[in-house]
Amino acid sequence: MSSRKKLPEQLGIAHPIVQAPMAGVSTPELAAAITNAGGLGSLGIGASTATQARAMIEQTQALTSGPFNVNVFCHQPARRDAEVEAGWVKYLAPLFAEAGIGPPDSLSEIYTSFVEDDETLQVLLELKPAVVSFHFGIPSADRIAALQGAGVYTMATATSPREAKEIEAAGIDAIVAQGIEAGGHRGIFDPEATDEGLSTLMLVRLLARQTTLPIIAAGGIMDGFGMKAALASGAAAVQLGTAFVLCPESAANEGYRDALKSERAAQTRLTKVLSGRPARGIVNRLISFGEAKDSPPPADYPIAYDAAKRLNGAASKLGNHEFAAQWAGQGAPLARELPAADLMALILEESV
Ligand SMILES: Cc1cc2nc3c(=O)[nH]c(=O)nc-3n(C[C@H](O)[C@H](O)[C@H](O)COP(=O)(O)O)c2cc1C
Repeated sequence: MSSRKKLPEQLGIAHPIVQAPMAGVSTPELAAAITNAGGLGSLGIGASTATQARAMIEQTQALTSGPFNVNVFCHQPARRDAEVEAGWVKYLAPLFAEAGIGPPDSLSEIYTSFVEDDETLQVLLELKPAVVSFHFGIPSADRIAALQGAGVYTMATATSPREAKEIEAAGIDAIVAQGIEAGGHRGIFDPEATDEGLSTLMLVRLLARQTTLPIIAAGGIMDGFGMKAALASGAAAVQLGTAFVLCPESAANEGYRDALKSERAAQTRLTKVLSGRPARGIVNRLISFGEAKDSPPPADYPIAYDAAKRLNGAASKLGNHEFAAQWAGQGAPLARELPAADLMALILEESV
């Protein structure tokens, strides 16, 4: 077996299935259920404070003694541009009116990148989850060394062979190969750079020739059939996000669940409108409005997300979910509503 195939052994898991970290959707209950079923559960703490992250990690540790992954966001801190931000708020004014609130006077950078978040680093070094994964880039060498020195296994998302080279050069232990089909935020390091938009299997094949690091295929894998294809293409494991959103253990609300179970799930789009960075979600009124001809550029990530969250916070109280971030991949119509352990068992059965 080539070294890249040894990932389950390295992580101490029975099955090569990673439940994707999903900020706002993954929960300690979901992560623990997946780990207890022999996969690798994950928490997404990218949008959490250090205190919230500590609570989630401790809750997960109380629910499982097995390994799990904690995911952080490593984006470049937001570039403030008062004109762009004001233009974005002004453009969204009719939607704020629909949501029954006035437009905010200003927008905020609603969370801190791990590249400058010392408090979260300290929490991770203290609580030592088995795995820490990075999205939107990689942190500095000293942060990676500190985590690895504490015995933490590290992984990072690549959307291209070039990003995978950077991950390998940084000494990170495994690469999450995220294809264009994937739900949620695209992990691209520089959202302004040219994006080839490689599919998951194409990216896995390209990386299999380029590196001996374990490759975890992410994007559009919804069942054991997709899992088999990814493993046959050279992946050491698969990472599924959208497939787990309908599990009762996830934090997805009713509006999100209804959309995912409806015909609307067949229409997803990669858009910067919701957060300021490209992310794939079910098309709704905010996305269509924000992408309309002559719309101004959204504020930078995650400042635009402040506007979307305010809109959704107010509108959802009125039973309107048209401004929500309902992240989902191209495989969304294949999502199944089952408890996490049952879904894991079904995926494994299909993958034989
Ligand atoms: C609801 C949702 C939230 C996500 N949040 C994160 C996150 O916080 N961190 C991260 O690295 N990836 C996140 N992703 C992307 C996943 O890691 C993964 O790349 C993706 O789910 C794979 O595609 P799939 O959804 O088709 O399975 C998210 C995906 C979804 C669907």
